[in-house]
Amino acid sequence: MKGLILAGGFATRLRPLSCSKPKLLFPIVGVPLIDVMLDWMKPAGVTEVILAVNHLADRMRKEIGEKRRGLDVLYSIEPEPLGTGGPLRLAKNLLGSDEPFLVINGDIVSNLDLRKIVKAHEDNDHIEATIALVEVPDPSHYGLVRMDKDRRIKQFDEKTKNVDGSGVVNAGVYILSPEVLEKIPSSGMVSIERQVFPKLAKDNLMQGWEHRGGYWYDVGKIPDYVRVNRELLEQSDATNRAGKEGPTYVGRGSVIEQSAQIGAYSILSDKVTVKSGSRIRDSIVFEETLVEEKCQIEGAIVGERVRLGTGVRLGPGSLVAGEISIPAGRTFGENSVVLNA
Ligand code: GTP
Repeated sequence: MKGLILAGGFATRLRPLSCSKPKLLFPIVGVPLIDVMLDWMKPAGVTEVILAVNHLADRMRKEIGEKRRGLDVLYSIEPEPLGTGGPLRLAKNLLGSDEPFLVINGDIVSNLDLRKIVKAHEDNDHIEATIALVEVPDPSHYGLVRMDKDRRIKQFDEKTKNVDGSGVVNAGVYILSPEVLEKIPSSGMVSIERQVFPKLAKDNLMQGWEHRGGYWYDVGKIPDYVRVNRELLEQSDATNRAGKEGPTYVGRGSVIEQSAQIGAYSILSDKVTVKSGSRIRDSIVFEETLVEEKCQIEGAIVGERVRLGTGVRLGPGSLVAGEISIPAGRTFGENSVVLNA
């Protein structure tokens, strides 16, 4: 089966971290999101994945490559962003017209069983789209779905404000039959959620498959990105649980000098260096970042290849853009956004 990952937005809600780093390369407990997604897709019989990209496309191609985690990776590059439907139209020849394919938003981390959703689609000849559903406390940011008792989707309301309490929403994971490609408007930007799904629902061609009991995160916003890291860190085998207060993760090739302290809920990607006298707690540090002596980092996210000079302090909620250098002695209070210094 072919899979397509929608990975072309600007990820504005992950700025400034997403300015230099595509969302698909954000580390999830030290592992790039793309690898987490490919490992998830593979058991469902996916052998080839198309990445639908535009912003930072060259960087993705260079860093992700054409073979990854045992899967073939192809690129469908949009000169202009085409939304969530247009990229499928653009990739039509790569997707082919013989069999259904899997589509996943490039910011989903979940253990929902993709084999089951594929099977639900195969078992029902009259359906053109099977979409995974999850229950969330506040559906207004998502596509709210109403189903009948046979799981046919009767209504699809994207980002409706007309809702009170929790609801079942589009999880950003679909199996689509090739017929759907013919129903995508033939030019410009298309929102599959607003322009295609409501029509499919009206024509009784769409069913839902509800994911219960496992986890599902949409990591496209900073608080959710922090939450996925924290919660998966708690479950991960690669974690150091020696600390009483909570787990930590230190990636390969990282160097922690002897008197540096890596406190609970710190996640350091590969090749991070933390020099003596520095203290890190409850923070995420991307790869190849250098923390000089006597820095204090608490509740922050620090991008890739950053250099924090001696004695730098970062307060809770701070975000440091990738690939910058912060001079010694600088202090940043709560919720600072550091773009250059
Ligand atoms: P924000 O700017 O923070 O809203 O993020 P986003 O641009 O990633 O948008 P959103 O989270 O709503 O998008 C859902 C999924 O579709 C994400 O995985 C995006 O990467 C992807 N996406 C959004 N717009 C485009 C686009 O124009 N082209 C492609 N190929 N993918 C897109």
